[in-house]
Amino acid sequence: MNKQKLNIILMGPPGAGKGTQSELIVKKYGIKHISTGDMFREAISNKTPVGLQAEDYITKGLLVPDAVVIALVKERLSKDDCAHGYLLDGFPRTIAQAEALEKLSIEIGRPLNKVININVDAEVLIKRIVARRVCPKCGASYNLDFKKPSKDGICDNCGTELIQRKDDTRESFSTRLEAYNQSTKPLIDFYQKKGILTNVDGLQDIDGVFAEVSSAIEGK
Ligand code: AP5
Repeated sequence: MNKQKLNIILMGPPGAGKGTQSELIVKKYGIKHISTGDMFREAISNKTPVGLQAEDYITKGLLVPDAVVIALVKERLSKDDCAHGYLLDGFPRTIAQAEALEKLSIEIGRPLNKVININVDAEVLIKRIVARRVCPKCGASYNLDFKKPSKDGICDNCGTELIQRKDDTRESFSTRLEAYNQSTKPLIDFYQKKGILTNVDGLQDIDGVFAEVSSAIEGK
């Protein structure tokens, strides 16, 4: 397998495990992880113009407007560190974003070759979301049911107090799920028709999901 040619999209509803699997993929395959959610959270914490534009949408669980996200990804994907492969997590989320990505990835000579879609039922998603805790300093993610930190409320990596994301409330989650069903789900069909989509069962434990993800990446 040629690691230099892995240009991947990881798709799935909120809480499906995209961030969790991204961490494992990046470790195993050495490609660059691009999470639009993480980029927005960083921009919000640094109070940049993009952060100020995005904050209200994110807290409410709404999608950030296409033009803002596309401009952000365009700049990021064109950087040198994506030349040996990239993993897009949380982008594209609309047909307009998918079309912009298709054009851009060809323009910069880094065409997409795999889309992995993680399937998880809604009642499991909400349980995962409300139990998630994250480290505001290093970004590590935990789960009070499945992946607890060694010491209650404290990040294993850097000792910082863990927090709950502002959009991990039940109310915001239901808006996020609605946005997913309305705007993002149609992308499954979009990529299926292109013959590059693999579905993965996200109801398994983290290692089980990763085994399927790895098989999809390696074309087994
Ligand atoms: P983003 O940060 O992308 O959020 P999301 O898509 O809602 O996904 P999450 O981060 O909530 O979940 P995940 O799938 O990564 O799951 P995780 O691995 O953490 O986006 C946030 C917001 O930014 C959006 O709502 C939107 O406003 C904006 N935005 C971002 N991109 C945009 C775009 N392209 N266009 C417009 N707006 C955009 O897992 C969840 C929990 O479950 C964790 O606690 C984890 O430990 C646990 N878990 C994971 N896998 C398993 C498993 N197999 N078994 C048990 N527990 C598991």
